[in-house]
Amino acid sequence: MLRKLLIGTMLTSGLAAGYAAPSLAAEVEVLHWWTSGGEAAALDVLKKNLESQGVTWKDMPVAGGGGEQAMTALRARVTAGDPPTAVQLLGFDIIDWAKQGVAGDLNSIAEKEGWDKVVPTALQNFSKYDGKWIAAPVNVHSTNWVWISKKALDAAGGKAPENWDELIVVLDKMKANGITPLAHGGQAWQDATIFDAVVLSLGTDFYKSAMIDLDPTALGGDKMVEAFDRMAKLRTYVDDNFSGRDWNLASSMVIEGKAGMQMMGDWAKGEFLKAGQKPGVDFVCIRFPGTQGAVTFNSDQFMMFKVGDDKTQAQLLMASDIESPEFQSAFNVVKGSVPARTDVPDTAFDDCGKKGMKDLAEANTSGKLFGSMAHGHAAPAAVKNALYDVVTRHFNGELDSKAAAAALAEAVAAAKG
Ligand code: BGC
Repeated sequence: MLRKLLIGTMLTSGLAAGYAAPSLAAEVEVLHWWTSGGEAAALDVLKKNLESQGVTWKDMPVAGGGGEQAMTALRARVTAGDPPTAVQLLGFDIIDWAKQGVAGDLNSIAEKEGWDKVVPTALQNFSKYDGKWIAAPVNVHSTNWVWISKKALDAAGGKAPENWDELIVVLDKMKANGITPLAHGGQAWQDATIFDAVVLSLGTDFYKSAMIDLDPTALGGDKMVEAFDRMAKLRTYVDDNFSGRDWNLASSMVIEGKAGMQMMGDWAKGEFLKAGQKPGVDFVCIRFPGTQGAVTFNSDQFMMFKVGDDKTQAQLLMASDIESPEFQSAFNVVKGSVPARTDVPDTAFDDCGKKGMKDLAEANTSGKLFGSMAHGHAAPAAVKNALYDVVTRHFNGELDSKAAAAALAEAVAAAKG
């Protein structure tokens, strides 16, 4: 009761005038795609945090890694004029929704808590629209990681690969050792997640020209043909049953020692942790060989939609909770990501988390921090989906590498409009 009263006081005193008196029976309806074991465990940190403050959590989970299905569900809700209170969203999708005039307003709490000073600009670019905070960043993930079974690596010589050639040597040894070298799920977003890292492994300038600047010469040129050749090579290391497999099931293959490694964003770490595995003991985390020093990032943010005044206070409370340094540490330790604020200590994080925080800070300083194409931080959804289509067709053998590079340049140009 005391806590509830305190929140009421906090809401009335801290926020701009004009809101209705705080309703103690606050409720948030939250649309998200955090349905795997590790993801659900992380979400629980937020849920419990809010519930302990008297906010009721109405869960709207929409399964499907990367959030494609969740976005379809969201469109239906917004079209029906009934958006959820808060929605997990990635990068350009936030801006696309804001342009439609459906965003809420978090400025009062953002100003009061000084978010401008602690949230990196790379994230703020997606949290604000028209100078107004509309979304609360939860974390920073990155896609250029590889998760390797320690046992499988030891059996393959014990040395983590540092470049493409060394990677191929390790994958070949794992194959010779009788396991599936590469655990992968054949879904467009997962193919594209590997593609982020493969393109980055051919140079940071190349990643920037192709994925951020969408330069037709980079998209359709010889280097892109090489990127597709690398994808085709990786395809030879996946098992026959990869089609349609969910990403967390691919993680399980590595966890159980049936496969050697998975190339996946650091949400995969959440699965290893949930299974009781420890970095350095049971699994090894490395940057995708050849991408050390650079980071392709994506940040989950809870965008607040325009809902009735009665829900505004709950939105502000949820956003305030999310941005608190304590929550940023507690949540991201479980999720596999790193904090969305620059002032959170790395003490509670394991070695992979500490590395993630250090890599992010260094990449930011050296100009090697780029938005992930696969996870909506390099280009708007139309371009992303055009790329998904070409990358997946190539991965499934419908296009050779040369045809794929040409198709990519063409598809991106058409999608850019
Ligand atoms: C999100 C992660 C999520 C992953 C798999 C990514 O787009 O940023 O939070 O765990 O998809 O579902």
